[in-house]
Amino acid sequence: METDILSIQNVSKSFPGVRALSNIVLSVRKGEVHVLVGENGAGKSTLIKIVCGIYPPDGGTMTLEGEPYFPRTPREAMNRGIRVVYQEFNLLSYLSVAENIFFDRLPRRGIRVDRKKLFRDASEIMARVGLDADPWMPVELLGVAQMQLVEIAKALSSKCRVLILDEPTATLSPGEISRLFEIIRTEKKQGLTVIYISHHLKEIYEIGDRITVLRNGELVGTKETAEIDIPHIVSMMVGRQMDAEYPFMDSPHPKPTGEPLLEVKGLRIASSSHEISFHLKKGEILGISGLVGSRRTETVRAVFGADKKLGGSVSLEGRRLNVTSPKDAVREGICLLTEDRKSQGLVLDMPVDANISLAALDKFSHFGLIDKKAERGASQRMAGELAIKTPSMSQLVRNLSGGNQQKTVLAKWILRDAKVLIFDEPTRGIDVGAKYEIYLLLWRLLAEGKGIMIVSSDLNELIGICHRIVVFSGGAVSGEVLRRDFEQERILKYAYRVSHEGSDRE
Ligand SMILES: Nc1ncnc2c1ncn2[C@@H]1O[C@H](COP(=O)(O)OP(=O)(O)OP(=O)(O)O)[C@@H](O)[C@H]1O
Ligand SMILES: [Mg+2]
Repeated sequence: METDILSIQNVSKSFPGVRALSNIVLSVRKGEVHVLVGENGAGKSTLIKIVCGIYPPDGGTMTLEGEPYFPRTPREAMNRGIRVVYQEFNLLSYLSVAENIFFDRLPRRGIRVDRKKLFRDASEIMARVGLDADPWMPVELLGVAQMQLVEIAKALSSKCRVLILDEPTATLSPGEISRLFEIIRTEKKQGLTVIYISHHLKEIYEIGDRITVLRNGELVGTKETAEIDIPHIVSMMVGRQMDAEYPFMDSPHPKPTGEPLLEVKGLRIASSSHEISFHLKKGEILGISGLVGSRRTETVRAVFGADKKLGGSVSLEGRRLNVTSPKDAVREGICLLTEDRKSQGLVLDMPVDANISLAALDKFSHFGLIDKKAERGASQRMAGELAIKTPSMSQLVRNLSGGNQQKTVLAKWILRDAKVLIFDEPTRGIDVGAKYEIYLLLWRLLAEGKGIMIVSSDLNELIGICHRIVVFSGGAVSGEVLRRDFEQERILKYAYRVSHEGSDRE
């Protein structure tokens, strides 16, 4: 008979103006991977935070291994073997990998840190999770995938009965995701229980044993993954039938006008020895595909003036631009939504409306005075169009769910009213239903003659919504594919094509 390790009974939680969870009943079996899904703002992270002792529930009870469980602090939860990797990382960037992993339990000799033992222990746990880095390296020098492995190493380095992963794959490439799943399978064999939150429904079948769906703070149900298919999960999540993931599939799609909008010629960036050229037409969605590390992000950052250009030109509507900073780019009508939304996109301690209008303030100012009413009206409209879930526009962005924070960044850049919109991983962390709405919104922008570039690691997304895809490999454009020729294999072939010089490593 299967035994429950964690059991949640009638747990509820409200925040001012929001009922985040009502009477949730959930049991997690020992040794299973239990997947938690639901739309943005459904209450997934809140439930996790209650299990981890960050928020007390307003009502309800929990048991852990048959014993009453009521963690008042994260420390208490940890002592009972509950460990979590949050949606947002909690690493101290200036400390080393080893110090981060053993942050609160550094081995000591006398009053000094025992650096030898720290090195040994860190190396051991790093090997276990497959983190290939120098234990003394400062965490800030790592890429996101590696940072995540540090978080997992940290979680597994002390007593861990239940490992909770909140959207672990949002920032990972396909190769890194397989490796994460390998780690989960291995640890599971050793008896670990995993609670796994994800918006990538296909992953659920690879890794999940059972799945629980939340909607609007309520439990919809728990099923064995083997007994449920994706359309069924989606309808449980969104409360209605969704026939297509991408609007392209079921409606006549808008066509680019053919007029060139943005032309990048012979662009040179610091991290590649190649010259990069591509163009974007009016009314077009151009996908930028490639493996992580293929310099897609670096390239769009250079176009935007966030990184230095070492050569080449960028022209907009036939006019050569002199863009040396993001400010120049924004003035010329080019916007970039960065992949790192927290540090570059949002001010967490400002309200939703102010965040949305931040980049477009000059639109609302006349002779130095800001028209507050117009500003608020516009923010409100954007929030409505993107269905940002918040009790009010004056809510601090910090208090929004992860996906709704991402929608806020999107709203901000769309309101800016640029000619060229560049989105780096725009739908990361966004639920299936909301994604569909975002794609429709992008189409409306196309109809206004704008051009859109999307960098995405989700190849299905690019195939679903783009007119054309440019593929990067090793810091060079390795191929271009038109919509009528879209095929996973063809695009991947370009993505894996080794650059002729062989000097750039992925
Ligand atoms: N600290 C807080 N203060 C106020 N409201 C909050 C707070 N934390 C969460 N909420 C609200 O509770 C609801 C549930 O949020 P939660 O973060 O649990 O959603 P989620 O399911 O994790 O969504 P996502 O997929 O976007 O991460 C949302 O409406 C959110 O705005
Ligand atoms: Mg969340």
